[in-house]
Amino acid sequence: MVCLGNICRSPLAEGILAEKCKHLPIIVDSAGTSAYHIGHAPDIRSQNIASINHITIGDQRARELTSTDLETFDLIYVMDSSNLTNTLKLAKNKEDKKKVHLILNASNPGQNQNVPDPYYGGDQGFKNIFDMLNDACEAIRIQLEKEFNV
Ligand code: 4NP
Repeated sequence: MVCLGNICRSPLAEGILAEKCKHLPIIVDSAGTSAYHIGHAPDIRSQNIASINHITIGDQRARELTSTDLETFDLIYVMDSSNLTNTLKLAKNKEDKKKVHLILNASNPGQNQNVPDPYYGGDQGFKNIFDMLNDACEAIRIQLEKEFNV
């Protein structure tokens, strides 16, 4: 799960998908395309909306996305078109590029929608992105269960 700061959107996406896929043999992680918040815990507004939905994300710490991540992980979900551009720059080959997807295309195929950056807004923005990410992660869970024959 990739966003800009790795403190608002991608920690929430990581927490939601990890909770939905507890029964699957996968590793869910997140990172940011910037170094702005390395080592920081998720924004308190993301922690709060997660907590309301019985998901704990407070133990996560922000880190910067690396080219190695693109080699290591099979699927890379980015939050918006700017993250997409910056993530694709880290890919060393075509195969790694193919792993990168806009996350809302999981729930709204082909629409290329962005998860809006909620950082400068209020709590309602965080509720909105929770709902979007929850729908996307539900679609991802269904896809993964098919792949694992669960
Ligand atoms: P995120 O949100 O990419 O969802 O973690 C942001 C967090 C911090 C900043 C921008 C977006 N910032 O400019 O510091």
